[in-house]
Amino acid sequence: MFKTLAIGAAFALALGPTASLAAGGEGHIEDFAFSFEGPFGTYDQNQLQRGLQIYTQICSSCHGLQYVPLRTLGDPGGPGLPEDQVRAYAAENFSVFDPELDDDRPAKPTDHFPANTAAGAPDLSLMAKARAGFHGPYGLGINQLVHGMGGAEYIASILTGYTGEEKEEAGAVFYENTAFPGGWIAMAPPLWGEDVDFADGHSNELHHEAQDVAAFLMWTAEPKMMARKQAGFVGVLMLTVLTVLLYLTNKRLWAPVKGRKSV
Ligand code: HEC
Repeated sequence: MFKTLAIGAAFALALGPTASLAAGGEGHIEDFAFSFEGPFGTYDQNQLQRGLQIYTQICSSCHGLQYVPLRTLGDPGGPGLPEDQVRAYAAENFSVFDPELDDDRPAKPTDHFPANTAAGAPDLSLMAKARAGFHGPYGLGINQLVHGMGGAEYIASILTGYTGEEKEEAGAVFYENTAFPGGWIAMAPPLWGEDVDFADGHSNELHHEAQDVAAFLMWTAEPKMMARKQAGFVGVLMLTVLTVLLYLTNKRLWAPVKGRKSV
């Protein structure tokens, strides 16, 4: 018994540093409650729309979403904008370079969100999947069974994790952040609370804004999450039915043999 425990612990320690493949989670990550958590969790359409608004009005000035097609804003399970609103949103907010016109033109639903590398800020399309909020214990990721990967929690924690301290190093300013690995991030606090006004009258406190935009970025990283969960559920259901049928078949096939009273 003791030996197995010791081997287990040694294994865990050996794996520790290497097992945490997705970056993030070294800092303090708050466990926000998101609607899409758990095996039956779904995206909250209104929250995705609010997150889209925050991304558009604030984050898009530095961060691109180059892997996200604008037309998916109308997909079921996403922000679910009606077709005409998707078209208007694309044209009003973004312009793209068209090689045929040899000029910029307003974006169409068939375009992607533009890339944006101007400020040295990373693309956010897949950020919620590239970062994990929860790793432990020993980097085995067992926490993730309970809490999920925590990519959205990581993003929301970054946005709410500023302490207000700044420092200058080699001509660049860094901001102290309790969620960012290393504790100092090059991104100035993008949200302060009351940065946007929501049409649905939802609270625009910092905590809520951070959660809304993090939920939106979870959707950009995994737009088909709801379809995946549904397919998984149907799969498990079918396997359960199959198990019952096989059990009954087995019982029936062996009944003549097992029921024999002789010897
Ligand atoms: C003024 C430009 C600017 C704005 C506006 C901005 N960011 Fe950033 N962001 C940056 C830069 C620069 C970095 C790289 C920071 C670093 O690596 O130290 C970054 C990094 C990030 C990261 C990655 C952290 C990591 O683990 O690597 C996330 C997530 C992020 N920003 C989210 C957001 C969100 C959400 C918004 C909108 C609410 C936003 N940013 C607005 C400049 C900006």
